[in-house]
Amino acid sequence: MTDWLNDAVFYEIYPQSFLDSNADGIGDIPGITQKLDYVKGLGCNALWLNPCFDSPFKDAGYDVRDYKKVAARYGTNDDLKALFAAAHARSMHVLLDLVPGHTSEEHAWFRESARPEKNALSGRYIWTDSWIENGDGMPFIGGEAERCATYVLNFFKCQPALNYGYGECRRRWQQPIDSPDALATRDAVWDIMRFWLDAGCDGFRVDMADSLVKNDTPDKAYTVKVWRDLTARLKAHSPEAVMVSEWNHPTQSLRAGFDMDFMLDWQGNGYSWLVRNYDGVTEGEPKNIGKAYFCKHSTTDITKFLDDWLPSYEATRADGLYCLITGNHDTLRISAGLDEAERRLAFATLFTLPGAPFLYYGDEIGMRYQKLPTKEGGYNRTGSRTPMQWDATANLGFSAAAAEKLYLPVDPAPDAPTVAAQERDPRSLLNTVRAILALRHGTPALGARAPFAVEYAQKGRRAFAWRRGDEATGRLLCAVNPGAEACDVPLSAAVQGAPLFTLGDAPAVRGTTLTLPAQSFAVFALA
Ligand code: NOJ
Ligand code: CA
Repeated sequence: MTDWLNDAVFYEIYPQSFLDSNADGIGDIPGITQKLDYVKGLGCNALWLNPCFDSPFKDAGYDVRDYKKVAARYGTNDDLKALFAAAHARSMHVLLDLVPGHTSEEHAWFRESARPEKNALSGRYIWTDSWIENGDGMPFIGGEAERCATYVLNFFKCQPALNYGYGECRRRWQQPIDSPDALATRDAVWDIMRFWLDAGCDGFRVDMADSLVKNDTPDKAYTVKVWRDLTARLKAHSPEAVMVSEWNHPTQSLRAGFDMDFMLDWQGNGYSWLVRNYDGVTEGEPKNIGKAYFCKHSTTDITKFLDDWLPSYEATRADGLYCLITGNHDTLRISAGLDEAERRLAFATLFTLPGAPFLYYGDEIGMRYQKLPTKEGGYNRTGSRTPMQWDATANLGFSAAAAEKLYLPVDPAPDAPTVAAQERDPRSLLNTVRAILALRHGTPALGARAPFAVEYAQKGRRAFAWRRGDEATGRLLCAVNPGAEACDVPLSAAVQGAPLFTLGDAPAVRGTTLTLPAQSFAVFALA
């Protein structure tokens, strides 16, 4: 696997909300370039940019109209190349968001494909063979095109599914994955990947990576086959480039050639038990039911997370990284469910587990979920996508435009957190994040690939302890107690000396018993 990933910490940027460099009310690429030193100073040495391509923005850019053109509202292709160069000058890497499963209904491919006369792009999307045919279990649209057929959707109505073929072909209009049309789609997506690799990007976050082949087997054998081909082409062309999948199934995705997969926030899964576990969103307000592991008064133990995460981690640790996120543009802000003390412990844990962590912009200062009407297909995701809060100037430093011109309003609260205020406070969340990430970068045993083993995890007990590293990196013990009561943790071996890092009150060590005060975290050296 690519070396740089071992020390990578990613920062996800929603481009429209990061920094507006030209006062039109919307964040842009030059704004991101201006803030690279801030991101690097935080301890994040890699970026994931949400889609920044030409789009009608019915799904915030996940409805791509032209894959090879930066959306005018974000700048130009040259601005993006300048961002790559500025990042590389700082030893940072940049991943673009690749949306291979669907395009916008306004993409030139789709317009051509929708024409009644047969043409070179007739098979680029999944069309049935009759105006009245259903999608064989997939959502479909009829009555919109002149072509005498309905077409299959991949997500919203504006996002027709590209044709990578079918695993099981049950209807006449379903093509196998090695049909000429399906192979042409694959070549077209590779052409886009190569275009941006040649422009200087370092790889891709891949949207709905598991969605390409329809009627696939339960283990996604056909989609895996398509990705093995595409990831092999990427590695042959750019050996240092990487791919991270939105898949949440590393036994499939990492074996398909992805370098990394995300553990996503799925209601009731291990990640949700760790930091979220809301009871859904009621009238735009996240309803935190206080059961997440990191909630101080929760009774949830770490096995809710480990039962889900550990088997996948263990089955794939030789193949790549299974990555943890603080949140993303689709989740509620982590601050909606955890208060600041709880989040410090959550960040310390997420950033010292294996895999490359992903920090969602603004989580480092505790940006809040906002109750807002939907914007660009965001629905209740909109409240997690508001402008970055830089300082106390107009629009919290995001933009010099009039407030009513902003892409989304900034947090109106008088105590809205900002980077500037937290930079001045050594005890701020921002400085805690910096300290944890500095520890991570300075400690080889905390690298993405350094070994991991559970030291202590008990049903009904709130503390969790884990070991990292080996002889080559040195060995560490990490331990967290998110609860309101002190906990004793029996250790298999004594720790060495004073803790290397702590949050909360200092732990006590007696022989092989570690006592973790309420709401505390500690890292020790092991022999
Ligand atoms: C997942 C993306 O993260 C989300 O924002 C988008 O709406 C869907 N895929 C569709 O592309
Ligand atoms: Ca702008």
